[in-house]
Amino acid sequence: MTEGGTKVGIRGIIFDLDGVLVHTDQYHFEAWKRLAGSLGIYFDEAANARLRGVGRMESLEIILERYSGPPLSGQEKCALAEEKNRVYQGLLQTMNPDSVALETVDTLSALKGRGYRLAVGSSSRNAKTILDLTGLGGWFDAVSDGVSITRAKPDPEVFLKAAQLLGLPPGQCAVVEDAASGIEAACAAGMLPVGIGGAAGDGRCRCRLNALPELLTYFQGDTSILYGAALHSPR
Ligand code: BG6
Ligand code: MG
Repeated sequence: MTEGGTKVGIRGIIFDLDGVLVHTDQYHFEAWKRLAGSLGIYFDEAANARLRGVGRMESLEIILERYSGPPLSGQEKCALAEEKNRVYQGLLQTMNPDSVALETVDTLSALKGRGYRLAVGSSSRNAKTILDLTGLGGWFDAVSDGVSITRAKPDPEVFLKAAQLLGLPPGQCAVVEDAASGIEAACAAGMLPVGIGGAAGDGRCRCRLNALPELLTYFQGDTSILYGAALHSPR
């Protein structure tokens, strides 16, 4: 990418929160499992995998695909989602700075040291709570979350808002994601998609990571080369 004839690479890195910076999946799983159980719905890890990166109400609809009780009104569905969130928030209270891997903090610190502007881009309405409980919030120049957007991923809104808060054009931002919906949102935003975890195998990703510290091998020097062919971390 060029700007006024000068090569411009990535200047901002936007991180998804759940599944990338913190492992809250287990709490989402536990809370949805309890709700599903109360409705007589079978729920397991495979069903939970479909909810990764999916908004709260959309997740509820996926769970209700197996519901065979009397029809539920919109109000009842909202109450169910609130009940799940109440349990989830209770589980989140066990989180603290030790819930974050040391390599995650070291990676954020090194990227900041290299001059990158860092943001969180999460569909979660609990993102700020998680950032506060873990102490991760201090690493970020901007936070774009479920509270500040109207459309969850795969809509690009959350990432476009993050770039705006960073004061950068979308083309100068990379997105680190573990969910297909997030990679889709990053592509739709015109950002450089970086896959980790469940998204590492996604063919749309420019860089594929086995672990977060691998970002440091990609994000150094001239990052304009990242816009070229897809790069893969050696397995
Ligand atoms: C995403 C999670 O980050 O946020 C999803 O991957 C979750 O599992 C979504 O449903 C919404 O989160 P919350 O905390 O607002 O219910
Ligand atoms: Mg995620």
